[in-house]
Parts: sequence; C-alpha cells; structure tokens
Amino acid sequence: MKIAVAKEIDPSEPRVAASPDTVKKFKSLGAEVAVEPGAGLKSGVPDAEFTAAGATVSADALKDADLVIKVKRPEPSELGQYKRGALVIAIMDPYGNDVALKAMADAGVSAFAMELMPRITRAQVMDVLSSQANLAGYRAVIEAAEAFGRAFPMMMTAAGTVPAAKLFVMGVGVAGLQAIATARRLGAIVSATDVRPATKEQVESLGAKFLAVEDEEFKNAQTAGGYAKEMSKEYQAKQAALTAEHLKKQDIVITTALIPGRPAPRLVTLDMVKSMRPGSVLVDLAVERGGNVEGVKPGETVEIDGVKIVGIPNLAGRVAASASGLYARNLFSFIETLVNKETKALAVNWDDELVKATALTKDGAIVHPNFQPKA
Ligand code: NAI
Repeated sequence: MKIAVAKEIDPSEPRVAASPDTVKKFKSLGAEVAVEPGAGLKSGVPDAEFTAAGATVSADALKDADLVIKVKRPEPSELGQYKRGALVIAIMDPYGNDVALKAMADAGVSAFAMELMPRITRAQVMDVLSSQANLAGYRAVIEAAEAFGRAFPMMMTAAGTVPAAKLFVMGVGVAGLQAIATARRLGAIVSATDVRPATKEQVESLGAKFLAVEDEEFKNAQTAGGYAKEMSKEYQAKQAALTAEHLKKQDIVITTALIPGRPAPRLVTLDMVKSMRPGSVLVDLAVERGGNVEGVKPGETVEIDGVKIVGIPNLAGRVAASASGLYARNLFSFIETLVNKETKALAVNWDDELVKATALTKDGAIVHPNFQPKA
C-alpha cells in the first residue's frame, strides 16, 4: 500500500495533509509513504522531518500511489498523475462543483470528501469541519484585533480608562464558540446569536450574553444532524430587526453562519454596517459561501464609512501549522478504517456508513446520492 502526500498547487493553501506524526502511524499500518517535495514547508514541516519520520520525499510521489491525501480537491491538471482506481481523500467542496466531480469520476479515482463525515461519536476524531473551524474562529478574533484601532480589554491607567471592546458573534457553531472564548480571553464584552436553541446555554456557559428571536421556528431550527435549517423570510426579518439595534452598539462583529449545501445566510445588510461607529470591524468567516455581511469581498478588507469588513478566505490556513496537524490526525483516523490490519492493504468496506457518507466517485461514476448529475 503506497500513500502519497500531495503538495497543494493552490498558492493560497498553506496546509498539508500529513505530519511527521501521521507518517509514523501510516508506517506502522504497513504503508509506504511518499511526500511531494516542499509539501509541508508552509506548515513549518521541512522535507527532512518527513524523511526522518520514514517517508520518501520524491517528485514522483503520486506515481502508482494507491491513496493520495490532500487538503483541497485535486484540479483536473493534477488528476493526470493519479493511478486509475486510486483513492483520493481531501476537503472536496462538492456543492455546486459538478464539473470538478465529473473530472474526478472520469479520471477513475475514488474520491472522498472529509467534510461530509457524519457527526457521530465514532467519527468525531475525523471531523475536519470542527478541527478547522475551531482554529478559524480563534484566528477571526486575532484578525479583528489587528484591524481594530482600539484595545480589547478594559484598562484603567493614570492617563484615563480604556473601555473594553464590545464584540458580537453571529452563528455559534464550532467557530463561533471558539471566537467567543478567544474574545473573552482578550477581555472583550461578548454577546452572540444563533438560530439553534441549543446554543443559548453554550453561549452563556462561556460568559457571553445570548440574543435571539426565540419563537416556535427557533425551537425547531436544528436538524437531526445538528445543523441549522434555512430560516423563513419572516424569521429572517424578525432576526434582522433585533440584531440591527444591537449592531449599532458593537465594536467588532464576527459572523460564522452557514447552512450545509446552501449559500450563507445574509445577516448584516449595508445599512446595518453603516449604522456602526467608524473604526468598527466585521470579520466574515462565511466569505467563501457568499458571506453573511453585505459588501464582503474574498481576500479584501472593504471600508465603508470607516467600518472595515474583513473577508479572509481560509482563515484556518493562517494558523497553518496547527491546522495541518489536526487535519492530518483527522485523515489518519479515517484511513485507519480503510485498511485491513492483517494484510496491510487497503480494504474499503463500501457499506460502512462513514464510507457511504463521504464517497463521491468510484469506478468512473459519481456515486454520492446528493451529487448525481441532473438528467
Ligand atoms: P456550521 O458551520 O454549519 O454553521 C455555523 C453556525 O451558524 C451554526 O451554529 C448555525 O446554527 C448558525 N446559523 C445558521 N444560520 C444562521 C442564521 N440565520 N442566524 C444565526 N446563526 C445561523 O456549524 P458547525 O460549526 O458545523 O456546528 C453545527 C452543529 O454541529 C453544532 O451543534 C455543533 O456543536 C455540532 N457538532 C457536532 C459534532 C459531533 O457530534 N461530532 C462535532 C462538531 C459539531
């Protein structure tokens, strides 16, 4: 069994899919590990550390590999190097990317999307959405602090008092909870909102104030999978009215609201942005899904009447060394379930619920029910 660790070709992707630690673990499973040169550099892992862990570093790493691990979905230009029948595991971003899925099917690879891993106890250690969102939430607060012209904590000095910053988190999933915790550590006064009732207690247990329209729809807003539903137009209007008043008094807003497979809900309009004091900062973590804040631009800081809207894609990539380490462990935990420990060969159980949930392509076709080509 040969496992290849690909170097990301997207220059904006600094993460890597393996760590020296997981290379050792793959070796103990009986695998041969080949790493493309420089794959780990931007995550602080030089080739020599992969070699020391037992991998070979080679420009031909992908050749003949039975399994290729990556951070991002392989581009059509990369697929030419993959062996037909190889497994490819990455964060595949499958929604709305039919052409890319077809390219992987046509290349004859079996592609698995880590972000489709079901949120069941057995798979918690494989949950890339959580491992990466946690770091993104942390980093969002650091970026906000960087863009903000004032201090976060209250400071009482001989020259006068610096007031604590008021920070509002919209969307309290994994990223939002970490943003709350990080902002509290920095001394901000934190409030937060979400459409799922379960979040109220979580927000309060972190010492922040919860704010939401708590009507009948709110009570049923969580799916069995633990995610938010898309809310009705009526709910959204009530939510907007409530948050509009609150936003006027905030210094920092961190938005993280997502609905799986749908564009991000628009939570902050341009009028709301304009109602904020000059010098305020919004950091929109949903920027890659269209954004929660009107006017956000991927990769830019937009300034409107002195209010900054920060739209950094791939915030987890700004903490690349930590993010790669966790992602690598997520991958190893999944791959371990695909290997027969006796024969030390890949032995995918296509009926396993983790495999069924994540497999996108196989034997030249798109196999995932949610991504079937339209007739
Ligand atoms: P996500 O990244 O899909 O969305 C972020 C947050 O935005 C969610 O809390 C969602 O409710 C919220 N949101 C959506 N629409 C909104 C709106 N209109 N206004 C305000 N907020 C809105 O969520 P994430 O981080 O993936 O977490 C989803 C759930 O999964 C959470 O309950 C989390 O605790 C749970 N979870 C369960 C795991 C497990 O059981 N293994 C592992 C990780 C998370």
